Amino acid sequence: RQPEVRTVAGAEEKVKGNGRGQRGEYLTTATGTRLYETDHSLTAGERGPTLLQDHHLREKITHFDHERIPERVVHARGAAAHGTFLANGAAENICKASLFASGARTPVFVRFSTVLGSRGSADTVRDTRGFATKFYTDEGVFDLVGNNIPVFFIQDGIKFPDIIHAAKPHPDREIPQAQSAHDTFWDFVSLHTEATAHTLWNMSDRGIPRSYRMMEGFGIHTFRLVNADGETNLVKFHWKPAAGVHSLVWEEAQIAGGVDPDFHRRDLADAIEAGAYPSWDLGVQVFPDTADEMFEGIDLLDPTKIVPEELAPVQVIGTMTLDANPTNFFAETEQVAFHPGHLVPGVDITNDRLLQARLFSYLDTQITRLGGPNFDQIPINRPHSPVNDMLRDGFHQDGVHTGVAPYHPNSLDGGCPFLASADSAAYIEVPEEVSGRKVRQAPASFDDHFSQARLFYRSLSPVEQEHVAQAYTFELGKCYEENIKTRNLGILANIDAGLVSIVAGGLGLPVPEPTEPLSDPELSPALSQVGEEWPVD
Ligand code: HEM
Repeated sequence: RQPEVRTVAGAEEKVKGNGRGQRGEYLTTATGTRLYETDHSLTAGERGPTLLQDHHLREKITHFDHERIPERVVHARGAAAHGTFLANGAAENICKASLFASGARTPVFVRFSTVLGSRGSADTVRDTRGFATKFYTDEGVFDLVGNNIPVFFIQDGIKFPDIIHAAKPHPDREIPQAQSAHDTFWDFVSLHTEATAHTLWNMSDRGIPRSYRMMEGFGIHTFRLVNADGETNLVKFHWKPAAGVHSLVWEEAQIAGGVDPDFHRRDLADAIEAGAYPSWDLGVQVFPDTADEMFEGIDLLDPTKIVPEELAPVQVIGTMTLDANPTNFFAETEQVAFHPGHLVPGVDITNDRLLQARLFSYLDTQITRLGGPNFDQIPINRPHSPVNDMLRDGFHQDGVHTGVAPYHPNSLDGGCPFLASADSAAYIEVPEEVSGRKVRQAPASFDDHFSQARLFYRSLSPVEQEHVAQAYTFELGKCYEENIKTRNLGILANIDAGLVSIVAGGLGLPVPEPTEPLSDPELSPALSQVGEEWPVD
């Protein structure tokens, strides 16, 4: 099959045949000199030592020696595809971003990933999945860097190194490779009860998706949208797969992972190759932008909480279809650099402190991972809109900038580039009032760690609940430390009496009593009416 030629950086630049890969009919050195031989080193006689003057040998080996770049510190293993987002116009009244205008078609690149495993780990492990989308809009790049689980482990980004240190393989034995079945993970989640809802989702069938094509995606954080009149709304983003949400059962995951560790990667590529293009609706839950940033008693700045769809239905604002595989894994899937701060006019962030830390972390890590500050010039990262910045030089600089005055204002070079006016297509931060004493503490509204975990567990069907109990029993059973198992049973006692007794029985440990009532008196009236089917559509 002839791979498609796909534009990634404007009409003249193609990933395939972009003029920087192979050109010409002859094998050459990196500097274009034709070679007559590439299989034998230059030696002093047929049996003598290799000569240092053999530049071709040294160039070939040296380049090979530097082929690997660091894998991502998290989400190292992934698979990606190109596609298009088609807006239906339903968001036009709440967001002025051009990508949401009715009929707008925006090229996208999506990378799915596991979180904890290394680049070579298996696809089918129990883990959260990343779902990161890069929209190449005509107003700049917008990245929606989400997961397949709508809640997060922690409430504050300052804890991110801690949860990842706990969940990655143990520093002494470097095991397990990609599973949460180990002491440090369970130690962390037992000591950080805000992780309870996420852990429960992980232990449910959502932790082992059938296919990347059959996963929901969630922006998790609350974002702030701005419309053409400057009015704001708070939203949460949701991807809904046309193929529905499907999972593997544990035994299937074990067999599939053993037989084909690339199970999800292959599934995505094969489906696209066969023309069975996966698609997702993008939807938003919309909340009034009130001063307290709460909705029905739920703190919208707490990323460990969802808003049930019964309380705020997901409104579809467009559809994304993935229809082309990457041409080169390294050039595209490995070098793509997502960032939650890549925003476009009309989409703004909120004060969610997990999101705020992310805004720092991604650019920082990518400077190391991609070898300097110029990775936005790599074809897969280039915006499709014109770039005229004052960033200069640095490793891997690809631009040949003209002029002498990369500063603003200047009176040379025929004057500075124009600045956009506030009412044109410029990105403008919402002028939100902020004040307060500097503190290192969470608001009291972050203290409820169990009610949503209970709601989620109760929403599952009996067979799904059975899978959760089996997963907890298996994973906790891998812990060496009994006190860690006991502490986690203490948490499960606050979720469901049946669940804790099955898991405790499986582990051969006593069943603890709950430390808080299971009846959720603290839930708002609206929340306590949420039905059995929540949150599955
Ligand atoms: C990578 C999602 C929280 C740091 C990623 C990726 C996804 C993701 C999907 C992979 C992107 C790709 O495919 O290239 C999320 C979500 C979060 C979250 C949904 C919470 C709602 C955080 C936090 C931090 C963080 C709190 C740090 C403070 C990173 C880093 C990478 C990463 C360093 C690697 C980026 C790279 O090397 O390009 N995250 N993340 N994440 N995340 Fe997060």
